[in-house]
Amino acid sequence: MTLFFAIVYLKRHQQMLSLNCSCTNYIMNYERGLFNNSYKQHYQKAIKILKTIIMRHISIISSSVREGRKSHNVSLYFQNYLTENKLATTEIIDLKAYNFPIFESTLKTMVNPAINVLEFAEKIKSSDGIIIVTPEYNGGYPASLKNAIDLLYEEWKHKPIAIATVSGGPFGGNQALVSLQFTLWKMMAWTIPAMFSVPTVDKAYDENGRPMDKANSDKLAAIFIKELLWCIEADKQEHTA
Ligand SMILES: Cc1cc2nc3c(=O)[nH]c(=O)nc-3n(C[C@H](O)[C@H](O)[C@H](O)COP(=O)(O)O)c2cc1C
Repeated sequence: MTLFFAIVYLKRHQQMLSLNCSCTNYIMNYERGLFNNSYKQHYQKAIKILKTIIMRHISIISSSVREGRKSHNVSLYFQNYLTENKLATTEIIDLKAYNFPIFESTLKTMVNPAINVLEFAEKIKSSDGIIIVTPEYNGGYPASLKNAIDLLYEEWKHKPIAIATVSGGPFGGNQALVSLQFTLWKMMAWTIPAMFSVPTVDKAYDENGRPMDKANSDKLAAIFIKELLWCIEADKQEHTA
C-alpha cells in the first residue's frame, strides 16, 4: 500500500513522466480529495520515505573573497549540517574560487561569456534552493556578492533563498541582511522569512565548520532550513499544479 502511495507522490511531483498502471482511479480519487484517514497515513508514510530518496539540491554561496575569511566556516557548517541530517544534496558555490572580474555586463548581453559565468548561472538555475552566507562590511554585503548577483537575472527569479549573515561584531550582520534582501526582492527571488545571524564569527565556528556551541547552532539551523525547505516545496507545488 505504501508503495502505491509512493507512486502517487511521484506522480504529483512529476517525477514520473507517465503512469501506466491500475492505480489511476485511486490517484484521481486522491486528487479529488476523497481519501479517508487510513489512506492518508499510507500517503504520509510514502512521502517520508520518498523525501529521503528524492532529496532537494541546495547550493550554498560563500560570498567572502577576503584573505583569512571567516564566514566561509559558516558555509562549511551548513554543508555539514545538510549532509549529516540527510536534508538535501549540497555544494558550496565559492565566489573566491570563481574570481569574477568587476561587473561589465549581464550574462544575457555577453557576446562570449566565460565558462565560469555559464557554470555559475547553471548552478543557480538548477538549485532547488540557495543559502547565501554573507559577511557584513560597513553595514552592507560585500562587493563580491553584488558582482555575482548582477551577472544574472532570470536565474534568480522565484528562487527560494535563505540568507545567513556573519559579522565580527556583536550584531550578526543584520544590516547586511536588510540590504541584501532588498536587492534580491528587486530580482524577484523568494527570500525566506527566517534569519541565521552569526555574531563574533571567529569565536563561533572553526575552519572545518564545526560550531563551538553545536546544540545552539543546530537548533537555529533547524528552524532556518525548515523554512527554506518549506519554500522549496511550495515552489515545486506551484510548478507542478
Ligand atoms: C571592510 C570591512 C568592513 C567591516 N564592517 C563591519 C560592520 O559594519 N559591522 C560588523 O559587525 N563587522 C564588520 N566587519 C567585520 C567583519 O564582519 C568580519 O571581519 C567578518 O569576519 C567578515 O567576514 P569574512 O571574514 O568572511 O570576510 C568589517 C570587516 C571588513 C573587512
